[in-house]
Amino acid sequence: MRVLVTGGAGFIGTNFVLWLLHTVPDVRVTVLDAMTSAVMTNNFIYARRGSREDSVWDHFEFVRGDVRDRDVLFPLVKDSDVVVHLAAESHNDWSLENPDLFVDTNVMGTLAVLEAVRHYGVRLHHVSTDEVFGDLPLDSGVFTATSPYRPSSPYSASKAGADHLVRAWTRSFDLPVTLSIASNNYGPYQHIEKFIPRQVTELLEGRPMRLYGSGVHVRDWIHVSDHCRALWAIVTGGELGKTYLIGGACEVSNSDIAALVLDQGTWSLPASEAVVHVADRPGHDVRYALDSRETTAELGWAPNIPLAQGIRDTITWYTNNRAWWQEAKAATEQRYRARGQ
Ligand code: NAD
Ligand code: DAU
Repeated sequence: MRVLVTGGAGFIGTNFVLWLLHTVPDVRVTVLDAMTSAVMTNNFIYARRGSREDSVWDHFEFVRGDVRDRDVLFPLVKDSDVVVHLAAESHNDWSLENPDLFVDTNVMGTLAVLEAVRHYGVRLHHVSTDEVFGDLPLDSGVFTATSPYRPSSPYSASKAGADHLVRAWTRSFDLPVTLSIASNNYGPYQHIEKFIPRQVTELLEGRPMRLYGSGVHVRDWIHVSDHCRALWAIVTGGELGKTYLIGGACEVSNSDIAALVLDQGTWSLPASEAVVHVADRPGHDVRYALDSRETTAELGWAPNIPLAQGIRDTITWYTNNRAWWQEAKAATEQRYRARGQ
């Protein structure tokens, strides 16, 4: 099968592509990625070090380009059996600083992908986020596939806009499309701007973890490899036209994640100095929770990496791969400090 992965050089994309190349026989993968600032280093050059002879790379092609550039996108879609659309600007905090970029990339990029798959009749899997539903109170509720859209940040509104386009194109043009909505991923190759890798790398630098506001906010955490398995289960066995929820069944507050990071690693800072509270995110969503039982029932998929183990492995990965993140660390922290975070 020929798979085109847009945004395939980002966090989830890299994990998905590496998983595909090493797990699925006879797969050919093309990545289309603009390598925006979301990407710190070329992950595939990085991952290939020491494994250049590995024949999986014979089945891989990387194209640097913008998903909105139809001259680049259309020929790649034409040569594919399925498109997995991950390309997006993905960070809530930066969406508050530059909303135009998020709407342009996430809405217009998805429009370009839809027009390309419509033109060539190629199957599409569109990757979305639980944030399109807005947030939940701390003490009750869970999102289902029929929850109303109520996004609260420029990022989540742009993803919601993209989802609306996907559903409208699917219905109006009878396109072969599936859509999935995932909760908070963590694991290797995640940008250090994101919560868990930011805290791990702060500790590795000998500085305290930085919690927004009180730290009571809750996310449903899923290891990225569990998400990747779900994506492939949907691409190969999902019902066309359907939306699948992919959650970790693992709701944890940010304070408790910080405690777990502290507990699962060996750090130079004493525990009493390991956390500081910083300025809260404006409009900060309180809690997300996804009910993915239907996905499990239909596709036989379930998350299987326990959080403590996943966090431990993630700490080990960032400890052993300083070369991957070190260069971006100072600039990332400078950007946060300017926001009081
Ligand atoms: P990421 O920022 O690490 O990766 C996104 C990739 O898209 C980057 O490699 C970036 O260079 C690329 N990109 C950005 N603009 C582009 C453009 N115009 N053309 C081509 N490529 C472009 O983000 P991620 O965490 O890997 O997220 C991937 C997708 O999954 C996004 O659509 C995101 O909304 C969705 N998602 C993420 C999570 C999560 O927890 N990380 C959860 C649910 C859904
Ligand atoms: O829910 C899925 C979404 O998860 C994806 O769609 C997004 O692409 C992804 O970035 C993520 O969004 P969040 O905003 O939930 O993730 P983030 O890692 O930015 O923050 C997670 C929580 O941690 C959130 O409550 C904010 C908080 N936080 C974050 C950072 C970076 C802190 O307390 N301190 C920090 O330094």
